[in-house]
Amino acid sequence: MIAAELRDLLPADPVPGHAVEWIPADEPLPSGDHYVAIVPLLSRWIGGQQLKQLLGLKIVANCAVGVDNVDLVSCQMGKVRVTNTPGVLTESTADLTWSLILQVARRTKEGERLVAGGAWAGWHPTQLLGLELDGATLGLVGAGRIGQAVGRRAIGFGLRLLYAARSRKDDFEAATGAKRVDLPKLLAQSDIVTLHAPSTPETKGFINRERLAQMKDGAILINTARGDLVREPALLEALESGRLAGAGLDVFADEPTVNPALVAHPRVVCLPHLGSATVKTRTAMAQLAVANVNAVLGGGQPITPVF
Ligand code: DGY
Repeated sequence: MIAAELRDLLPADPVPGHAVEWIPADEPLPSGDHYVAIVPLLSRWIGGQQLKQLLGLKIVANCAVGVDNVDLVSCQMGKVRVTNTPGVLTESTADLTWSLILQVARRTKEGERLVAGGAWAGWHPTQLLGLELDGATLGLVGAGRIGQAVGRRAIGFGLRLLYAARSRKDDFEAATGAKRVDLPKLLAQSDIVTLHAPSTPETKGFINRERLAQMKDGAILINTARGDLVREPALLEALESGRLAGAGLDVFADEPTVNPALVAHPRVVCLPHLGSATVKTRTAMAQLAVANVNAVLGGGQPITPVF
């Protein structure tokens, strides 16, 4: 079964030799031992309960790089393969991250409101002064594919690069001059902190009050990874107190519900999880997910396995 929302991105007969059921995201999963593969969206939880309904399942081919919507332990116990869609969404997500960095640094939400509200009284030398990127420091929390792609784009803007990651990225350092530091140092030294870590038990909520307090006065937080990395009430406190200059958020703890205080905040730009939202990327994600299904149902190895 394949998420119905992917239908337009896929060929007419995406899994040759198998009947496909298209399941809309807002419909419950059907049950039956005859289902051998599922291609869910990231909004669909695939847990122990769901796996019990689908005892013939061989593969969960998640149509996302993140797999926090999949109970990996239950899949492993049930000998169900899990795949994701790494690589194909790297550049589009990095672009969107940069859109947020630029918007928040240059206060475009406040500017747009000023013009739209008819309150703009003309050019003023101290109106809506933002952060100049040239010479500022960008801190990447996580330097996998997406983090590195965000970092590569920083060079053109004249930013100094720091990153916090479990391992050193020699090629990335050589190409960008990025320096690996620990998280407290990154938070203390970065004018912009951007999150590129997966949601795992270790990272959930790790941008909390204590870590936000370690950030530089007037810094900016960007999150295009997963909403639950950030404790939103603590972020709001840091914004309200003026400690942080702003935030750019493409992901939220309880999607699609977004805390109205974040939406209303003049220095917070909120987007509806658009990181990978280009025709090229979304098509590639859907096709890669289905290619994983075809590989496994054909008796081969998945192309992009989680396991
Ligand atoms: C993913 O693939 O995990 C992204 O969040 C989709 O945009």
